[in-house]
Amino acid sequence: MSVVLPFEPKDPSIETLVRLVKGDMERVNAAILARTGSDVAMIPEVANHLISSGGKRLRPMLTLASASLCGYEGDGHITLAAAVEFMHTATLLHDDVVDESDMRRGKLAARKLWGNEASVLVGDFLLGQAFRMMVEVGSLTCLDILSSAACVIAEGEVMQLAAAKNTATTEANYLAIIRGKTAELFAAACEVSAVLAGRSAEEQAACRDYGMDLGIAFQLVDDALDYGGSADKLGKNLGDDFREGKITMPVLLAFHRGDAAEQDFWRKCLERGEADDSDLQHAIQLLRQRNAIADTVEKAHAYGAKAKAALGLFPDNAARAALAEAVDFCLARAH
Ligand code: IPE
Ligand code: IPE
Ligand code: MG
Ligand code: MG
Repeated sequence: MSVVLPFEPKDPSIETLVRLVKGDMERVNAAILARTGSDVAMIPEVANHLISSGGKRLRPMLTLASASLCGYEGDGHITLAAAVEFMHTATLLHDDVVDESDMRRGKLAARKLWGNEASVLVGDFLLGQAFRMMVEVGSLTCLDILSSAACVIAEGEVMQLAAAKNTATTEANYLAIIRGKTAELFAAACEVSAVLAGRSAEEQAACRDYGMDLGIAFQLVDDALDYGGSADKLGKNLGDDFREGKITMPVLLAFHRGDAAEQDFWRKCLERGEADDSDLQHAIQLLRQRNAIADTVEKAHAYGAKAKAALGLFPDNAARAALAEAVDFCLARAH
Protein backbone atom coordinates (compact mmCIF):
# COMPACT_ATOMS: atom_id res chain seq x y z
CA MET A 1 0.00 0.00 0.00
CA SER A 2 1.44 3.33 -0.91
CA VAL A 3 1.22 6.34 1.34
CA VAL A 4 -0.23 9.41 -0.32
CA LEU A 5 1.18 12.64 1.02
CA PRO A 6 -1.21 15.60 1.09
CA PHE A 7 1.38 17.76 -0.64
CA GLU A 8 4.82 17.34 -2.12
CA PRO A 9 7.61 18.14 0.32
CA LYS A 10 8.74 21.66 -0.58
CA ASP A 11 12.26 22.87 -1.18
CA PRO A 12 13.32 25.25 1.56
CA SER A 13 12.11 28.63 0.46
CA ILE A 14 12.42 32.18 1.61
CA GLU A 15 8.68 32.69 1.09
CA THR A 16 7.80 32.46 4.79
CA LEU A 17 10.24 35.26 5.52
CA VAL A 18 9.01 37.32 2.55
CA ARG A 19 5.41 36.96 3.72
CA LEU A 20 6.25 37.81 7.32
CA VAL A 21 7.90 41.12 6.44
CA LYS A 22 5.91 42.02 3.31
CA GLY A 23 4.27 45.21 4.64
CA ASP A 24 7.47 46.46 6.26
CA MET A 25 9.53 45.57 3.20
CA GLU A 26 7.37 47.77 0.99
CA ARG A 27 8.24 50.66 3.28
CA VAL A 28 11.93 49.71 3.17
CA ASN A 29 11.87 49.64 -0.63
CA ALA A 30 10.24 53.08 -0.68
CA ALA A 31 12.96 54.37 1.69
CA ILE A 32 15.66 52.85 -0.52
CA LEU A 33 14.27 54.49 -3.67
CA ALA A 34 13.88 57.83 -1.91
CA ARG A 35 17.53 57.84 -0.83
CA THR A 36 19.25 57.17 -4.13
CA GLY A 37 18.34 60.66 -5.35
CA SER A 38 21.03 63.25 -6.03
CA ASP A 39 21.42 66.29 -8.26
CA VAL A 40 24.48 64.58 -9.64
CA ALA A 41 22.72 62.53 -12.32
CA MET A 42 25.24 59.73 -12.48
CA ILE A 43 24.60 58.78 -8.84
CA PRO A 44 20.96 57.63 -9.16
CA GLU A 45 21.76 56.13 -12.56
CA VAL A 46 24.49 53.86 -11.22
CA ALA A 47 22.74 53.14 -7.91
CA ASN A 48 19.42 52.29 -9.58
CA HIS A 49 21.11 50.02 -12.12
CA LEU A 50 22.10 47.77 -9.24
CA ILE A 51 19.13 48.35 -6.94
CA SER A 52 16.50 47.79 -9.65
CA SER A 53 18.07 44.44 -10.54
CA GLY A 54 16.68 43.26 -7.23
CA GLY A 55 18.87 40.97 -5.26
CA LYS A 56 17.41 38.82 -2.55
CA ARG A 57 17.11 41.68 0.00
CA LEU A 58 18.07 39.08 2.56
CA ARG A 59 19.81 41.38 5.06
CA PRO A 60 17.00 43.96 5.41
CA MET A 61 14.49 41.11 5.73
CA LEU A 62 16.60 39.78 8.61
CA THR A 63 16.45 43.19 10.31
CA LEU A 64 12.66 43.28 9.90
CA ALA A 65 12.10 39.70 11.03
CA SER A 66 14.39 40.19 14.04
CA ALA A 67 12.35 43.27 14.98
CA SER A 68 9.23 41.12 14.82
CA LEU A 69 10.95 38.37 16.85
CA CYS A 70 11.78 40.96 19.52
CA GLY A 71 8.28 42.48 19.55
CA TYR A 72 9.50 45.91 18.41
CA GLU A 73 6.68 48.36 17.76
CA GLY A 74 8.32 51.55 16.45
CA ASP A 75 9.49 52.60 12.96
CA GLY A 76 13.27 52.60 13.41
CA HIS A 77 13.65 49.09 11.99
CA ILE A 78 12.42 50.31 8.57
CA THR A 79 15.13 52.95 8.33
CA LEU A 80 17.83 50.64 9.69
CA ALA A 81 16.82 47.88 7.26
CA ALA A 82 17.20 50.34 4.38
CA ALA A 83 20.58 51.43 5.79
CA VAL A 84 21.71 47.81 5.99
CA GLU A 85 20.76 47.21 2.33
CA PHE A 86 22.60 50.40 1.34
CA MET A 87 25.72 49.20 3.14
CA HIS A 88 25.39 45.89 1.29
CA THR A 89 24.87 47.63 -2.07
CA ALA A 90 27.90 49.82 -1.45
CA THR A 91 30.06 46.77 -0.67
CA LEU A 92 28.87 45.09 -3.89
CA LEU A 93 29.86 48.12 -5.98
CA HIS A 94 33.27 48.16 -4.32
CA ASP A 95 33.67 44.38 -4.34
CA ASP A 96 33.12 44.08 -8.10
CA VAL A 97 35.94 46.57 -8.63
CA VAL A 98 38.26 44.73 -6.26
CA ASP A 99 37.38 41.34 -7.79
CA GLU A 100 37.27 42.64 -11.38
CA SER A 101 33.89 40.94 -11.75
CA ASP A 102 31.82 41.49 -14.89
CA MET A 103 28.36 40.31 -13.82
CA ARG A 104 26.17 41.15 -10.85
CA ARG A 105 22.51 40.31 -10.29
CA GLY A 106 22.22 38.99 -13.82
CA LYS A 107 23.39 42.23 -15.43
CA LEU A 108 26.69 43.76 -16.38
CA ALA A 109 28.40 45.02 -13.25
CA ALA A 110 28.17 48.79 -12.84
CA ARG A 111 31.92 49.05 -13.31
CA LYS A 112 31.60 47.59 -16.84
CA LEU A 113 29.10 50.31 -17.76
CA TRP A 114 30.36 53.38 -15.88
CA GLY A 115 33.89 52.34 -14.93
CA ASN A 116 35.69 51.51 -11.71
CA GLU A 117 35.94 55.12 -10.56
CA ALA A 118 32.18 55.71 -10.71
CA SER A 119 31.49 52.40 -8.97
CA VAL A 120 33.76 53.25 -6.05
CA LEU A 121 32.42 56.78 -5.69
CA VAL A 122 28.74 55.83 -5.93
CA GLY A 123 29.46 53.11 -3.36
CA ASP A 124 30.83 55.84 -1.10
CA PHE A 125 27.67 57.90 -1.64
CA LEU A 126 25.47 54.94 -0.63
CA LEU A 127 27.58 54.33 2.45
CA GLY A 128 27.19 58.00 3.38
CA GLN A 129 23.41 57.75 2.94
CA ALA A 130 23.38 54.63 5.10
CA PHE A 131 25.05 56.56 7.93
CA ARG A 132 22.60 59.44 7.58
CA MET A 133 19.72 57.00 8.00
CA MET A 134 21.33 55.43 11.07
CA VAL A 135 21.70 58.86 12.65
CA GLU A 136 18.02 59.61 11.97
CA VAL A 137 17.01 56.60 14.03
CA GLY A 138 18.79 58.17 16.97
CA SER A 139 20.20 55.09 18.69
CA LEU A 140 23.89 55.54 19.38
CA THR A 141 24.19 51.82 20.12
CA CYS A 142 22.78 50.92 16.69
CA LEU A 143 25.07 53.49 15.09
CA ASP A 144 27.98 51.90 16.94
CA ILE A 145 27.01 48.38 15.79
CA LEU A 146 26.57 49.32 12.13
CA SER A 147 29.55 51.67 11.86
CA SER A 148 31.74 49.01 13.49
CA ALA A 149 30.38 46.54 10.96
CA ALA A 150 31.43 48.86 8.12
CA CYS A 151 35.01 48.80 9.48
CA VAL A 152 34.99 45.03 9.98
CA ILE A 153 33.71 44.43 6.43
CA ALA A 154 36.57 46.52 5.06
CA GLU A 155 39.02 44.64 7.29
CA GLY A 156 37.68 41.33 5.96
CA GLU A 157 38.10 42.46 2.37
CA VAL A 158 41.66 43.71 3.03
CA MET A 159 42.55 40.48 4.88
CA GLN A 160 41.31 38.62 1.83
CA LEU A 161 43.56 40.71 -0.43
CA ALA A 162 46.53 39.76 1.72
CA ALA A 163 45.57 36.06 1.65
CA ALA A 164 44.93 35.90 -2.11
CA LYS A 165 47.18 33.60 -4.09
CA ASN A 166 48.59 32.13 -0.88
CA THR A 167 47.96 28.40 -0.55
CA ALA A 168 49.41 28.56 2.99
CA THR A 169 46.17 30.28 4.07
CA THR A 170 44.63 28.29 6.93
CA GLU A 171 41.03 27.43 7.61
CA ALA A 172 41.19 29.84 10.58
CA ASN A 173 42.41 32.66 8.29
CA TYR A 174 39.63 31.92 5.83
CA LEU A 175 36.97 31.90 8.56
CA ALA A 176 38.24 35.22 9.91
CA ILE A 177 37.93 36.67 6.40
CA ILE A 178 34.36 35.53 5.82
CA ARG A 179 33.26 36.53 9.32
CA GLY A 180 34.49 40.01 8.46
CA LYS A 181 33.48 40.50 4.86
CA THR A 182 30.07 38.80 5.04
CA ALA A 183 28.88 37.52 8.41
CA GLU A 184 29.44 40.74 10.34
CA LEU A 185 26.74 42.56 8.36
CA PHE A 186 24.28 39.68 8.86
CA ALA A 187 25.06 39.82 12.61
CA ALA A 188 24.67 43.60 12.81
CA ALA A 189 21.45 43.47 10.75
CA CYS A 190 19.86 41.19 13.36
CA GLU A 191 21.42 42.70 16.49
CA VAL A 192 20.21 46.26 15.87
CA SER A 193 16.58 45.15 16.01
CA ALA A 194 17.04 43.58 19.44
CA VAL A 195 18.67 46.83 20.58
CA LEU A 196 15.82 48.96 19.18
CA ALA A 197 13.32 46.72 20.96
CA GLY A 198 15.18 47.22 24.25
CA ARG A 199 15.74 43.49 24.72
CA SER A 200 18.20 42.07 27.27
CA ALA A 201 21.93 41.78 26.57
CA GLU A 202 21.46 38.03 26.29
CA GLU A 203 18.75 38.40 23.66
CA GLN A 204 20.81 40.99 21.75
CA ALA A 205 23.71 38.52 21.74
CA ALA A 206 21.43 35.70 20.56
CA CYS A 207 20.25 37.80 17.59
CA ARG A 208 23.83 38.68 16.78
CA ASP A 209 24.94 35.03 17.04
CA TYR A 210 22.10 33.95 14.77
CA GLY A 211 23.15 36.48 12.13
CA MET A 212 26.84 35.68 12.46
CA ASP A 213 26.43 31.92 12.05
CA LEU A 214 23.93 32.35 9.24
CA GLY A 215 26.36 34.74 7.50
CA ILE A 216 29.21 32.24 7.74
CA ALA A 217 26.96 29.49 6.38
CA PHE A 218 25.82 31.82 3.59
CA GLN A 219 29.37 32.60 2.45
CA LEU A 220 30.47 28.95 2.65
CA VAL A 221 27.59 28.04 0.33
CA ASP A 222 28.46 30.98 -1.93
CA ASP A 223 32.04 29.73 -2.17
CA ALA A 224 30.79 26.24 -3.04
CA LEU A 225 28.46 27.69 -5.69
CA ASP A 226 31.35 29.54 -7.34
CA TYR A 227 32.58 26.11 -8.47
CA GLY A 228 29.37 24.14 -8.69
CA GLY A 229 26.44 26.49 -9.19
CA SER A 230 24.66 27.90 -12.20
CA ALA A 231 25.70 31.30 -13.51
CA ASP A 232 22.13 31.96 -14.71
CA LYS A 233 20.64 31.40 -11.27
CA LEU A 234 23.44 33.17 -9.41
CA GLY A 235 23.48 36.15 -11.75
CA LYS A 236 27.27 36.23 -11.60
CA ASN A 237 29.99 34.36 -13.46
CA LEU A 238 31.24 31.07 -12.08
CA GLY A 239 34.93 30.54 -11.49
CA ASP A 240 35.62 34.16 -10.52
CA ASP A 241 37.25 32.98 -7.28
CA PHE A 242 39.53 30.59 -9.19
CA ARG A 243 40.59 33.19 -11.74
CA GLU A 244 41.40 35.65 -8.95
CA GLY A 245 43.39 33.10 -6.95
CA LYS A 246 40.99 33.42 -4.03
CA ILE A 247 41.64 30.78 -1.38
CA THR A 248 38.18 29.64 -0.32
CA MET A 249 37.05 26.64 1.74
CA PRO A 250 36.57 24.25 -1.22
CA VAL A 251 40.10 24.99 -2.43
CA LEU A 252 41.60 24.73 1.05
CA LEU A 253 40.07 21.27 1.52
CA ALA A 254 41.10 20.00 -1.92
CA PHE A 255 44.61 21.41 -1.55
CA HIS A 256 45.23 19.74 1.80
CA ARG A 257 43.72 16.45 0.65
CA GLY A 258 45.58 16.50 -2.67
CA ASP A 259 48.75 14.60 -3.60
CA ALA A 260 51.93 16.40 -4.69
CA ALA A 261 50.78 16.71 -8.33
CA GLU A 262 47.46 18.17 -7.27
CA GLN A 263 49.12 20.63 -4.93
CA ASP A 264 51.40 21.70 -7.80
CA PHE A 265 48.32 22.25 -9.96
CA TRP A 266 46.66 24.45 -7.33
CA ARG A 267 49.89 26.43 -6.84
CA LYS A 268 50.27 26.96 -10.59
CA CYS A 269 46.71 28.20 -10.96
CA LEU A 270 46.17 30.13 -7.75
CA GLU A 271 49.64 31.38 -6.78
CA ARG A 272 51.13 31.97 -10.21
CA GLY A 273 47.81 32.82 -11.88
CA GLU A 274 48.53 30.54 -14.83
CA ALA A 275 44.97 29.27 -15.17
CA ASP A 276 42.78 28.96 -18.25
CA ASP A 277 39.25 27.60 -18.77
CA SER A 278 40.40 23.99 -19.07
CA ASP A 279 42.17 24.43 -15.72
CA LEU A 280 38.87 25.53 -14.20
CA GLN A 281 37.28 22.30 -15.43
CA HIS A 282 40.16 20.30 -13.97
CA ALA A 283 39.86 22.20 -10.69
CA ILE A 284 36.15 21.36 -10.47
CA GLN A 285 36.98 17.71 -11.13
CA LEU A 286 39.57 17.69 -8.32
CA LEU A 287 37.18 19.43 -5.95
CA ARG A 288 34.61 16.71 -6.63
CA GLN A 289 37.13 13.86 -6.30
CA ARG A 290 38.31 15.23 -2.98
CA ASN A 291 34.74 15.79 -1.80
CA ALA A 292 35.60 19.42 -1.21
CA ILE A 293 32.33 20.97 -2.41
CA ALA A 294 30.14 18.57 -0.43
CA ASP A 295 32.24 19.05 2.70
CA THR A 296 32.11 22.84 2.36
CA VAL A 297 28.32 22.59 2.26
CA GLU A 298 28.44 20.23 5.25
CA LYS A 299 30.42 22.81 7.22
CA ALA A 300 27.80 25.38 6.24
CA HIS A 301 25.16 23.07 7.71
CA ALA A 302 26.99 23.01 11.04
CA TYR A 303 26.91 26.83 11.17
CA GLY A 304 23.28 26.77 10.07
CA ALA A 305 22.44 24.48 13.01
CA LYS A 306 24.21 26.89 15.39
CA ALA A 307 22.22 29.79 13.95
CA LYS A 308 18.96 27.96 14.57
CA ALA A 309 20.03 27.03 18.09
CA ALA A 310 20.57 30.72 18.87
CA LEU A 311 16.87 31.29 18.17
CA GLY A 312 16.01 28.89 21.00
CA LEU A 313 16.00 31.76 23.48
CA PHE A 314 12.89 33.22 21.86
CA PRO A 315 9.30 31.95 21.98
CA ASP A 316 8.25 29.75 19.09
CA ASN A 317 6.31 32.22 16.94
CA ALA A 318 5.95 33.10 13.26
CA ALA A 319 9.09 35.27 13.23
CA ARG A 320 11.21 32.53 14.75
CA ALA A 321 9.87 30.00 12.24
CA ALA A 322 10.63 32.37 9.33
CA LEU A 323 14.18 33.00 10.59
CA ALA A 324 14.75 29.27 11.00
CA GLU A 325 13.47 28.64 7.48
CA ALA A 326 15.76 31.38 6.16
CA VAL A 327 18.67 29.24 7.38
CA ASP A 328 17.45 26.26 5.36
CA PHE A 329 16.97 28.49 2.34
CA CYS A 330 20.55 29.79 2.58
CA LEU A 331 21.90 26.26 2.88
CA ALA A 332 19.93 24.96 -0.10
CA ARG A 333 20.08 28.04 -2.28
CA ALA A 334 21.27 28.00 -5.85
CA HIS A 335 21.04 31.76 -6.32
C1 IPE B 1 26.40 38.70 -2.38
O1 IPE B 1 25.34 38.68 -1.47
C2 IPE B 1 27.67 38.93 -1.65
C3 IPE B 1 28.03 37.81 -0.76
C4 IPE B 1 28.12 37.93 0.53
C5 IPE B 1 28.34 36.51 -1.34
P1 IPE B 1 23.87 38.27 -1.91
O2 IPE B 1 23.90 36.94 -2.58
O3 IPE B 1 22.97 38.41 -0.72
O4 IPE B 1 23.54 39.37 -2.99
P2 IPE B 1 22.15 39.92 -3.54
O5 IPE B 1 21.85 41.13 -2.71
O6 IPE B 1 21.10 38.85 -3.39
O7 IPE B 1 22.43 40.28 -4.96
C1 IPE C 1 31.24 39.05 -0.70
O1 IPE C 1 32.35 39.02 -1.44
C2 IPE C 1 31.34 40.05 0.44
C3 IPE C 1 31.29 41.46 0.06
C4 IPE C 1 30.69 41.91 -1.02
C5 IPE C 1 31.91 42.41 0.95
P1 IPE C 1 32.58 37.97 -2.65
O2 IPE C 1 33.51 38.63 -3.59
O3 IPE C 1 32.97 36.67 -2.07
O4 IPE C 1 31.14 37.80 -3.23
P2 IPE C 1 30.63 37.74 -4.75
O5 IPE C 1 30.93 36.37 -5.25
O6 IPE C 1 31.35 38.82 -5.50
O7 IPE C 1 29.15 38.00 -4.66
MG1 MG D 1 33.21 39.42 -5.46
MG1 MG E 1 35.18 39.80 -3.10
